[in-house]
Amino acid sequence: MDAEPVPEVLRQRAFQILEHGRRRQPASRLIDWILVLLILGNVAAAVAQTVPDIASHHGASLQLFDRVCVLVFAIEYVARVWTAPEHPLLGQHAALGARLRFATTPLMMIDALALLPLLLELLFPANALMALTRLVRFLKLARYSPALATIGRLISNERRGLLACVIIFAGVLLTAAAAMHAVEGKVQPDSLGDLPKAMWWAASMLAKIGGGEITPVTTLGRIIAAITVMLGIGCFALPVAIIGRGFYEEIRRRDFVVTFAMVARVPLFSRLDAASIADLVGMLRARTVPAGASIVRKGERGDAMYLIASGAVEVDSAGGKVRLQEGNFFGEMALLSREPRSATVTAVRATDLLVLDANDFLRLVDRLPEVGARVQAVARERA
Ligand code: CMP
Repeated sequence: MDAEPVPEVLRQRAFQILEHGRRRQPASRLIDWILVLLILGNVAAAVAQTVPDIASHHGASLQLFDRVCVLVFAIEYVARVWTAPEHPLLGQHAALGARLRFATTPLMMIDALALLPLLLELLFPANALMALTRLVRFLKLARYSPALATIGRLISNERRGLLACVIIFAGVLLTAAAAMHAVEGKVQPDSLGDLPKAMWWAASMLAKIGGGEITPVTTLGRIIAAITVMLGIGCFALPVAIIGRGFYEEIRRRDFVVTFAMVARVPLFSRLDAASIADLVGMLRARTVPAGASIVRKGERGDAMYLIASGAVEVDSAGGKVRLQEGNFFGEMALLSREPRSATVTAVRATDLLVLDANDFLRLVDRLPEVGARVQAVARERA
């Protein structure tokens, strides 16, 4: 057997370390930790550097620390771009094409953005605003936090509700401003004499940042102010509730971050294009189960299908015990036949599962018939 050339082996290894799935190796964890600590340290340093006292005493060491961080981030960036051809979905492109495509993925753009401040600082030295651009490095944490990684999806999921809140807020603002302008416009022409001024008053009252310098002087004015404050509480409670609930649901859906590479590695999805995989990343829930836990029980109603991202499970079927490994899936039979679960499936060791809910499964089969056909073929074989 031909040995693979050394650079390819190195690149594969680097890819495994950098673009890991779960249950990753110690090297991968170590590098993650170092990067997370550097990101946090770097952001803290950027904040500290704006305090004149600290800047005068420790400015030089903070700057040195910043340069070291940027050097590490730059090496990380170059290494990620270099390993792009190892990406399961980009393998079919020539190395340069794969790298260019990889560089335009959201996380890589954030990484590039994190390197930008140094360039800006070198071009426009001693500019306070430039120093603050360093704070964008905080976004690099999105790679490590399920919470941050899902925030974009959260806003997109809840956009209708949030837009409704903006419209309600605008309506309340205009009504309060118009009412106050009508009632006190003549009494306080300086602050409520025209609608834009009255709108500023209404906005301050709604946001409860004050409006203090403009106090209503008539009884009707005070009543309007009181109602405006109360409506303000409602206007702010609404989006908070929407975002809070959506956030809770997103977090609960994900015990770990579902990455593009993780989904692309599942053999069932390996032939899909990038857009379909990206879609799946949003659809799949992530669940970690401990060794010995039953994931589905015979006779139960089937509400989801499971893909093994890492670990192994044992199926206790009529034909005996069958072990399924990383990359396999189970729980498809109940979804396809709409009958109860045909077997009990138990985790053999700590296992990371990608969970596809029944509705999403049906949508997926609808949209990607070739995936449906492959699932059906496996189910037929098992039955
Ligand atoms: P479902 O019936 O939904 O729930 C139990 C799952 O176990 C089933 O779907 C299959 O995915 C899996 N399963 C059942 N029998 C076998 C088998 N013989 N080999 C592998 N997996 C099986």
